[in-house]
Amino acid sequence: MSVLISGGTIVNADRTFAADVICDHGRIMAIGEDLETPDGATVIDATGRYVMPGGIDPHTHMQLPFMGTVTSEDFFSGTSAALAGGTTMIIDFAIPKMGQSIIEAYDTWREWAEQSACDYSLHVGITWWGDSVHRDMETLVRDGGVNSFKHFMAYKGINMADDEILVSSFMRARELGAIPTVHAENGELVDRMQQIIFERGITGPEGHPLSRPPAVEGEAANRAIRIAEVLDVPVYIVHVTCREALDAITRARLEGQRVFGEVLAGHLVVDDSVYRNEDFRFAAGHVMSPPFRSAEHPPALWQGLQAGNLQTTGTDHCCFNADQKALGKGDFRAIPNGTGSVENRMEVLWTHGVRTGRLTMNEFVQVTSANAAQIFNLYPRKGVIATGSDADIVVWDPDATKVISAKTHHMNIDFSIFEGMEITGTPSHTISRGKVVFTDGKLDVERGAGRYVDRPPYAPVANFRQTA
Ligand code: URP
Ligand code: ZN
Ligand code: ZN
Repeated sequence: MSVLISGGTIVNADRTFAADVICDHGRIMAIGEDLETPDGATVIDATGRYVMPGGIDPHTHMQLPFMGTVTSEDFFSGTSAALAGGTTMIIDFAIPKMGQSIIEAYDTWREWAEQSACDYSLHVGITWWGDSVHRDMETLVRDGGVNSFKHFMAYKGINMADDEILVSSFMRARELGAIPTVHAENGELVDRMQQIIFERGITGPEGHPLSRPPAVEGEAANRAIRIAEVLDVPVYIVHVTCREALDAITRARLEGQRVFGEVLAGHLVVDDSVYRNEDFRFAAGHVMSPPFRSAEHPPALWQGLQAGNLQTTGTDHCCFNADQKALGKGDFRAIPNGTGSVENRMEVLWTHGVRTGRLTMNEFVQVTSANAAQIFNLYPRKGVIATGSDADIVVWDPDATKVISAKTHHMNIDFSIFEGMEITGTPSHTISRGKVVFTDGKLDVERGAGRYVDRPPYAPVANFRQTA
């Protein structure tokens, strides 16, 4: 079934122009002025609207088993909510338990993700090291469409990667043409700080940010970057929350190092005052790692995006409901870490980025889809409105207004970190694989309609500087 989007203005990362778009067989078939309506086509009148590549959220955790529970959003509910917000692809994480085969974990997540309503891909976690991990990384790159491996430098005792693991895995990633990614927090420091703070009698959610100050993140980001420098491999830092980590990235980039940084919509607009709220549910609802930061950090993160030192935006969509957050009542260390916002990223970035003049519309496309597509080797299949690209499109109404609320959102979580936020600019239509799946507030999604998207390796670099 074909779709004609007529009368809109196409916004790509590189330019803005007026044109119609025809989609068929899941692809963009034609772009031009005054295109004829194909027989039987669904017609979307995009007059006064922007036609942009669907968002790519490079950081989600659907149905993740974590901290004694499982995130409340499964691949179907989560990707449906993503589509309602104009995001047409997610990259989730297959995270093996310590000692578990990384291929087994990948297979498990592939099976879970078959329920997805939109396209998806998987980063694979490296949580331990051994000969089989070394071997299986190659299998995943060669046969599994994986070109990125994730390392948690935090979460001691759960899935923390120490320096030995980082070095082994980064070297292997380089050989395979894959990119290492890191959650940058010094897990040893967090563990000790948590203990100290708890023993001082601070047991509520306000203890969470105290145990993970910005220096903890800055140190880890810098360490990962310097390990990557020595091993001559690119590195991608997920969820950068503070000036200290941003400075480490900026410094390395100025030195010519290939370092990428991701920022979450939440960290751009929410600050750490949320942890001092006396309502446990409210404060615990914001417990995630790294935490929300004091008010001087969000403006620095916006500057990082504007300067191009942070290239992507994600959500780290990791939903826990009130009963799950209650696991940490009386001990902040046991509050499941995570917040959800896969549906809101695009509208928050538009409202607080484009409408404030911080970002141009083209920069909005860069940081919501095109850069992620390029960094993770999905471009130009994703991240651009071009003939031959996948028909993953958002038709954007820049004047539509709404107020974000957990009562009305599509996400399977009873809380919103953006509760009450006034938005101007939302999707009027979302098209996924050539099908109109969201129209003026109404979802028409299909379980399992999404497809796994292979991400081929980057060409391995020939001039390895290491002599050892
Ligand atoms: O608190 C968070 N971010 N939970 C999800 C796991 C992670 O660290 O990304
Ligand atoms: Zn993380
Ligand atoms: Zn995460």
